[in-house]
Amino acid sequence: MDTLKIKKDVEAIHEKIKYHNNLYYNLDTSEISDADYDLLLKKLQKFKDEYPSIVTDISILNEIGGQPSNQFTKFTHPSRMLSLDNAMNRDDLLNFEKKINNFLGEKNKKFEYSIEPKIDGLSLNLIYENGILKEGITRGNGEVGEVVTDNISTIKEIPKKLKTKMPPNMIEVRGEVFIDREDFLSLNAKNETKFANPRNAAAGSLRQLDVRITESRPLKFIAHGFGLSDQQINTTYYETMNSLKKWGIPISPKLALAQSIDELDKIHKDIFKNRNDIPYDIDGLVYKVNDLKLQNRLSYVGKSPRWAIAHKFAAETAVTEIKKIDIQVGRTGALTPVARLKPINVGGVLVSNATLHNFDEISKKDIR
Ligand code: IVH
Repeated sequence: MDTLKIKKDVEAIHEKIKYHNNLYYNLDTSEISDADYDLLLKKLQKFKDEYPSIVTDISILNEIGGQPSNQFTKFTHPSRMLSLDNAMNRDDLLNFEKKINNFLGEKNKKFEYSIEPKIDGLSLNLIYENGILKEGITRGNGEVGEVVTDNISTIKEIPKKLKTKMPPNMIEVRGEVFIDREDFLSLNAKNETKFANPRNAAAGSLRQLDVRITESRPLKFIAHGFGLSDQQINTTYYETMNSLKKWGIPISPKLALAQSIDELDKIHKDIFKNRNDIPYDIDGLVYKVNDLKLQNRLSYVGKSPRWAIAHKFAAETAVTEIKKIDIQVGRTGALTPVARLKPINVGGVLVSNATLHNFDEISKKDIR
């Protein structure tokens, strides 16, 4: 491939990612699935790996989330809010453990891991001072977020005061704001603006200047970690989370421990099979090295900690019949063929339309 063509392709993918980032992080909406978005990131990463001397000025792969909006007061997180690397299969998990071993100068050492569902919502940082809730901040770009303290004070599950006689002077509690699938459906039924999915509904409900709107939305919260604190509550992640629970902070009822990659993989299969029993959307599981001293040593690389990984669920697939193909005209005049399908249930959602992306794709797959 010639240099000019590579540059052009990279630029096109880069623009697409920027476009979808803006929709997702700033406008609380989306036009493509998470799996398709991940594919774009993978494509860009591949270009970067294969042609490092040509793809030089692309930093989007190391960026976390979006830029905090000027509509909100900005706040610098006491400690940075990181993102997670993804694993798609057992090999990726083995590789994750191998990298930990390499970093620690060990070989084939086994570690204890915590397990939690990866909730598909939006990240929140809660700052408690002497046990009193002081601020609620969105993740923003990981360093600076948006102050949503008044908004989150309408979420019943978030305690204003921690139930402990000896609270730390300061602690950051991190977690996910989300909406249950059923609440999302009734919200969309009664609301004029239709959200594409529960995640968009949660983000669009939290990031409101009028707190009364947030108050009217069925937002929930589950903690999945902690940042800076002047007090070490326990020596393990699992026990610290259980202390937070005693203090009144909701944690995942599925929080568990595992002693090996095989055990993690087995639990992943079980939870994937029964994921419809969980009332909110999850898109995988998150595993964390349980020992906090080890976490501290492992630290992070780029935008992700070395001690944690998200084990994603494979996108569910199903087979159905194409009834007809319509051509949709977008706002910019772009034409997109859309297949009208015999409705089929995919992971609890009735699907009756599917975008066919473009004409090349149709002829490549010989769709008629
Ligand atoms: S751990 C440094 N645990 O996923 C550790 N994150 O892709 C980062 N998320 O920003 C967070 N469920 O908003 C963690 N059980 C879980 C999670 C979780 C959802 C979100 C979180 C994070 C994003 C990273």
